Amino acid sequence: MRAITQESYGSADVLHLGNVAVPEPKANEVLVQVGAAGVDRGVWHMMTGLPYLGRLAFGLRKPRNPVPGMDLAGTVSAVGSAVTRFALGDQVYGSGRSTYAEYAVAPEARLALKPAGLSFAQAAAVPVSAVTALQGLGKTGRVQAGQKVLVIGASGGVGSYAVRLAKAFGAEVTGVCSTGKMDFVRSLGADEVIDYTAEDFADGTRHWDLILDIAGNPSIARLRSALTPKGTAVITGGEAGGRLTGGMNRQLGAVALSPFVPQRLTMFIGAVRSAELEDLTGLIEAGSITPPLERTFPLDQAREALDWLASGKVRGKVALTVG
Ligand SMILES: NC(=O)c1ccc[n+]([C@@H]2O[C@H](COP(=O)([O-])OP(=O)(O)OC[C@H]3O[C@@H](n4cnc5c(N)ncnc54)[C@H](OP(=O)(O)O)[C@@H]3O)[C@@H](O)[C@H]2O)c1
Repeated sequence: MRAITQESYGSADVLHLGNVAVPEPKANEVLVQVGAAGVDRGVWHMMTGLPYLGRLAFGLRKPRNPVPGMDLAGTVSAVGSAVTRFALGDQVYGSGRSTYAEYAVAPEARLALKPAGLSFAQAAAVPVSAVTALQGLGKTGRVQAGQKVLVIGASGGVGSYAVRLAKAFGAEVTGVCSTGKMDFVRSLGADEVIDYTAEDFADGTRHWDLILDIAGNPSIARLRSALTPKGTAVITGGEAGGRLTGGMNRQLGAVALSPFVPQRLTMFIGAVRSAELEDLTGLIEAGSITPPLERTFPLDQAREALDWLASGKVRGKVALTVG
C-alpha cells in the first residue's frame, strides 16, 4: 500500500512517499481503510524528534515507527478477534498509528463512529485537538457556565476547538492570537479577541476564572496576574523551553508551585479515547461545534502539509486526504 515513510528525524524533507505492507490488527485493534489523516503538532514533534525528551517514546536515534500519523477517519476493513463495537464497513474516526497510509490500525478503545454529516477530512481534523481542548476545559479546567475563560493560542488546532467548546459550555470567551487571525477567532464565537502583538492579556486590568494556555509560552507569573484570586490555569502546550524538554519546563514548574498559591496551576497530557470522541460526536451532531478545517492536502503532499503547519499560517486545522 502507499504510505508516507520517515527514516530519520528532521524537517519535512525526511518524509517520502513509499510502499509498505498493510498492517495486521491485533485482537483489540481495528484495521481502517484511511479516508483522511489529521495533521497536528504531535506529528510535527515525531517528525523532528523534538524536544529530545520525546525520543524516549518515539525512538532515540530514528523513529521507532517509520510511518507517521495518529489521527484518522475511514472505513473499517478488518477487526481483531476481541473487537465488539465495530464491524466491516463502519465509518469511524479516532487515533491510531502510522495513519499516513492507505490502511492503518487503531485500538478499538480509541475509535468512535464518525459523526453523521462530516467528511473524512473533517472527521480526521477532530481527534487529538478537540479531545485535548475538551479535557483541558472539562476534566482538568472544570469550566462552569458563566465563567470568564481565556484561550491563549486560540487560532491553532487545539485553541480553535477550545473557543468553540468553551462557548458551548456557556462561558464568556476571550481568545488570544496574532493580528491576521483575529477575524477567524471571532468567527469561532469568541466574545473578545486580544491581538498579542498589540495588547498584553496580563497587564493587570483584566482577570479570568480559567486560562487555557496552549501557545505563546507566557511565564507562570504572567498567567497568575491574569487569573482571578481563585482562578485556574491549565498549561496545555507551548514550544519554548529548549530542544531538550520543550514546553514541559513550564508545565512542571506550574504543578510544583500550585500547592503554595491560592490559584490552581495545572497541566495534563491528553489521551484520545472512545468516550471523549462520543461526547464530541454528540456536540458535532447537535451543531454545537464544527471542525475548523482550513485546508486539505493529498497524501503525497504530506511534506507541504507539515510545512504549512510549521509556518504558523494555519487557521484551525489541516488534514491529509488519502482515499
Ligand atoms: N497537553 C496535551 O495533551 C497536548 C495535546 C495536543 C497539543 N498540545 C500542545 O499544544 C500546543 C498547540 O498545539 P496546536 O495543535 O494547537 O498547534 P498549532 O495548530 O500549530 O497552533 C499553535 C497556535 O499558536 C499560536 N501562537 C503562536 N504564538 C502565540 C502567542 N504568543 N500567543 C498566542 N498564540 C500564539 C499560533 O497562532 P498565531 O499566528 O495567531 O500566533 C498558532 O495558531 C503545542 O505545543 C502542542 O504540542 C498539547
